Amino acid sequence: MTNKYMYFIANWKMFGSLSSLNSVTKVVRFLKNFKKNKFLKIIYCPPNTLIYPLSKKLMKSRIDIGAQNCHEQESYGAFTGSINSFMLKNVGAKYVIIGHSENRHAGESDKMINKKIKSALKTGLKIIFCIGETIHERRKKNTKSVLSKQIRLGLMNIKNKKDIIIAYEPVWSIGTGIIPKLDDLSKIIYFIKRKVRNCKILYGGSVNPKNLDKLKFIKNIDGYLVGGASQDSKKFIDIIKKTYN
Ligand code: PGA
Repeated sequence: MTNKYMYFIANWKMFGSLSSLNSVTKVVRFLKNFKKNKFLKIIYCPPNTLIYPLSKKLMKSRIDIGAQNCHEQESYGAFTGSINSFMLKNVGAKYVIIGHSENRHAGESDKMINKKIKSALKTGLKIIFCIGETIHERRKKNTKSVLSKQIRLGLMNIKNKKDIIIAYEPVWSIGTGIIPKLDDLSKIIYFIKRKVRNCKILYGGSVNPKNLDKLKFIKNIDGYLVGGASQDSKKFIDIIKKTYN
């Protein structure tokens, strides 16, 4: 049983159409009647196409919306296919995920991530900053040095970190069904908390209602970034319920 303020962030990745928004309605209904609702923040990060319709739907709820990435420039520009933080804010986003390993893998560098974070903060968005090591880096026992580097370069010259939430997502946990050993995870969260003081630190990677029975015993986690399971309202609600049970 926890009374700690927790974040539950749904990362829908490249999934979802207008009809998928019905599943969010179920979560809104659940939240209204959930006794612990003062202790939590839900943030939906749908694909960009759904931000506006979802923001209309969630207008009267306490659920916020985030985007999954943004361009590094906050002003308009000739960048075909890109969207900047201002445009995301304009249609209802309050948060943006930056540095997700799927984008790092596609070529996003620490330098780009740093620029994106700065520009999104300037626009007034809050940041969900993802860090995490690959299996190769973990096997070589480089986890801490990789995370340190991602934090140092990603947050370079950013003094005020009050609008930054960090999501620790080991790349080998994302979409694999595998989660870190609890002891290891607790130590890594502690390590990150010491590096970046006063930031909330979430865990992400294969979070589901089953493994939540274990994850919820890690006291220093401030919430979860949920991919696959967040598209299923029942699973997402179960994750929330179990956290407080
Ligand atoms: P997953 O994704 O929960 O499907 O592993 C998490 C993420 O990529 O944010």
